[in-house]
Amino acid sequence: MSLVTTTEMFKKAYEGGYAIGAFNVNNMEIIQGITEAAKEEKAPLILQVSAGARKYANHTYLVKLVEAAIQETGLPIALHLDHGDTFELCKSCIDGGFSSVMIDGSHHSFEENIKLTKQVVDYAHDKGVTVEGELGRLAGIEDAVNVSDKDAAFTDPDEVEEFVKRTGVDSLAIAIGTSHGAFKFKGEAKLRFDILEEVQKRLPGFPIVLHGASSVMPEYVEIINKFGGSMPGAKGVPEDMLRQAAKMAVCKINIDSDLRLAMTATIRKYFAENPSHFDPRQYLGPARTAIKEVVKHKLVNVLGCNGKA
Ligand code: G3H
Ligand code: 13P
Ligand code: ZN
Repeated sequence: MSLVTTTEMFKKAYEGGYAIGAFNVNNMEIIQGITEAAKEEKAPLILQVSAGARKYANHTYLVKLVEAAIQETGLPIALHLDHGDTFELCKSCIDGGFSSVMIDGSHHSFEENIKLTKQVVDYAHDKGVTVEGELGRLAGIEDAVNVSDKDAAFTDPDEVEEFVKRTGVDSLAIAIGTSHGAFKFKGEAKLRFDILEEVQKRLPGFPIVLHGASSVMPEYVEIINKFGGSMPGAKGVPEDMLRQAAKMAVCKINIDSDLRLAMTATIRKYFAENPSHFDPRQYLGPARTAIKEVVKHKLVNVLGCNGKA
């Protein structure tokens, strides 16, 4: 099997009331942990690469690692560019074998966002690649971009039909209160399900994407804090809210921070308990296992996509 686009997986997910997990990757252990979990749970997968991750790990290495994962698992896997910010970056990923890209024009005006997104869609569709667009602006930190709470903006449901129609995107990321990183809510966690419902009404059958959807699993934050770390106030999206969204129009749920936390917690604990060890396999092995456990939990208990491959 080769890479698949998101078309088929989103159609089934929408109809089946579940979501596909889109997990960020940047090295071999992360890819192995995620794909071993998906193989055991027979789940379709989206592996996504940010501009920063692509720079860190190298485009060719990442494509080859994902191809190896497909060979090992036989699963339908899409390789997706996360938060592409220019036409050139999207084109480079499309030309280099990705099966899906995101063009994130959410920092531009509505008209500029449409223009940029349509340019990417025209190029991508010509090559059989699917495209995710974004309307509304999430708060939080991603790579070098730090969107403060005051610059964040919920998606306006009045804009979604026109955006989808004029751009031709295959899926749409919306802002309903989630945010990137490990500090998502200062007080009570709240998502604007009313906006999601309204968007779903305007775009019946159309796949919606949720970014910033890590739960910031307290068990890993606790380990980090116990073994020399400091993450006071870390807080994520409650998993029952994500399950509810997955039953609605949300077909893709982005998770990165939870994997980072699991990996970091495991390595911190390992060194606290084994201060004289220095073979990377000794700490990267358990970190990979922790990622696998987190992903299995998400596939089964949050996304509901187990058994759907
Ligand atoms: O949405 C952003 C992802 O968490 C990727 O983060 O740009 O630091 O690789 P990154
Ligand atoms: P988290 O930081 O919540 O894991 O979000 C990841 C994401 O949206 C990647 O695009
Ligand atoms: Zn994101």
